[in-house]
Amino acid sequence: MQATAIAQPNIALIKYWGKRDVDRNLPAAGSISITLSDLYTEVDVELDADLTGDSLLTNGIADQHRLARMSDCLDMVIGEQRLHARVTSISNFPIAAGLASSASVFAAATVAAAAAAGLSYNTQKLARLAGQASGSAARSLFAGFTELSNVADTISVKSLCDVLSWPLQVVVAITATTPKATGSSEAMEISRATSPFYDKWIEQQAQDLATARAAIERRDFASLATVAEHNCLKMHSVMWASRPPMVYWNAATLRCLQTVRKLQEAGHDVFFTIDAGPQVKAVCMPDHADAVREALSATPGVQEIMTSGLGPAARLVKNRGE
Ligand code: PMV
Repeated sequence: MQATAIAQPNIALIKYWGKRDVDRNLPAAGSISITLSDLYTEVDVELDADLTGDSLLTNGIADQHRLARMSDCLDMVIGEQRLHARVTSISNFPIAAGLASSASVFAAATVAAAAAAGLSYNTQKLARLAGQASGSAARSLFAGFTELSNVADTISVKSLCDVLSWPLQVVVAITATTPKATGSSEAMEISRATSPFYDKWIEQQAQDLATARAAIERRDFASLATVAEHNCLKMHSVMWASRPPMVYWNAATLRCLQTVRKLQEAGHDVFFTIDAGPQVKAVCMPDHADAVREALSATPGVQEIMTSGLGPAARLVKNRGE
């Protein structure tokens, strides 16, 4: 009873920040993301009757810190009466530093756990289960441009446009690799409870989603750029105005934004987005990727650059029986 799955992280262009139901981990509003190709997490789940507890190895190191959350994810997918599991997770990028690693980790874990337990769930069901572990993970069950919507008492996820139809590139400027001080779930709740901008943020999401959806349908880069940057800055304004304030940026984050502005002034098709961490993701048209990469690499404080295209949905890569 062992299975391995691979999932790519996704980057939200219209962000998820706030929950309507903490227990079931349901978002307060929808979101739109792009799944990446070059960053990935591979998760192996082995269910074994001889084990006395679950274990988790993250990039080769015993990971007590994330074990409880992984066990909860397995309980949700397989059921609490399951066998204990040996879980290994390997990512080719820094984890818990605002690079959406929880999305790829829990999308891959959900797919691997279901297969290891012999459960054949459809993609929508897998997305809902992954979303219970990490809201953004639901979107990594789909390739390319993906929209997550709230429906009745659950979520619904669908693909808006496939990878080949609009092959954007993402240049990720890594400005710090240390794990973030406050995890997204906790930070979202602090924002909901304390930020004076929170209600307005949620209220405006439907409009931003509609604008982004229309831009993606028309392949209108300028329109997508404007709404995505505005949505990102609104989310960070909500965070900054929370008590205690949640400031995930560092000096290099801001310098990267200035670099993106200069690139735009020079006529490059590029825009930025930032999640709950200090990394800047510059989304661009493919023929501008070299210039974007070069400019961000030369920005003081940038430690590493990763470039990615848009990528596939989470998938099973090995299934060794039931
Ligand atoms: O899925 P979580 O709980 O890690 O939250 C993700 C939150 C953001 O990355 C900041 C925004 C998003 O929509 O991915």
